[in-house]
Amino acid sequence: DRSIKIAPSILAADFANFGAECAAIEGQGADWVHVDVMDGHFVPNISFGAATCAAIRPHIRGVMDVHLMISPVDAYLEGFVEAGADVLTAHLEAGPHVHRTLQAIRGAGVRAGLALNPGTPAEAVEMLLDEVDLICVMTVNPGFGGQKFIRSQIAKVRRLREMIGDRPIHIEIDGGVDPVTAPLVTEAGADVLVAGSAVFKHGTVDNPEGYGRAIREI
Ligand code: DX5
Ligand code: ZN
Repeated sequence: DRSIKIAPSILAADFANFGAECAAIEGQGADWVHVDVMDGHFVPNISFGAATCAAIRPHIRGVMDVHLMISPVDAYLEGFVEAGADVLTAHLEAGPHVHRTLQAIRGAGVRAGLALNPGTPAEAVEMLLDEVDLICVMTVNPGFGGQKFIRSQIAKVRRLREMIGDRPIHIEIDGGVDPVTAPLVTEAGADVLVAGSAVFKHGTVDNPEGYGRAIREI
């Protein structure tokens, strides 16, 4: 179903070749490029920040989907807006004022995403539905690629799709997406699938056809 978007996560790419990796996955049919920012505080891992996002931006023709696993968030938003993010996603659990964060993202002219950790129920977004363009359901605990998909989140996706009703909100799935788990979440109402290891383990920048096969199989 081509209304489902595939967003490979460059967390699983060659960090010394981000520009070429972005071009390779887009050339192989990726719809969005998912960019995981980790601060070593909100999550127990450090990836990279706004300067890296700005550096890879010219190598992405389509949507740069930036997932902020950072706390605090607000003081850093401007840097990611300047870096050229098309979607900026903050975690509900990252601070007491996520409503303000979402308003600030939209106020900067960027699509606002809200990510939920596996322990956060669907109902937590009820008062935020009119402030978001995307809800990211984490199907692993954030911090690392290559973890096992948490099946209890499927029911949460179904509940969120009901709560969203006819609002134009994407449901994105992040963590453990592969050809086995993808149909479980699209059937429940998800329409954007992040995939890190399931794409990048099948190719290299110099030999990217495997990326394309993996993207088509999800
Ligand atoms: C996890 C990140 C994910 C991760 C997904 O904290 O937000 O985007 O890279 O990787 P896989 O697809 O390997 O689970
Ligand atoms: Zn992510």
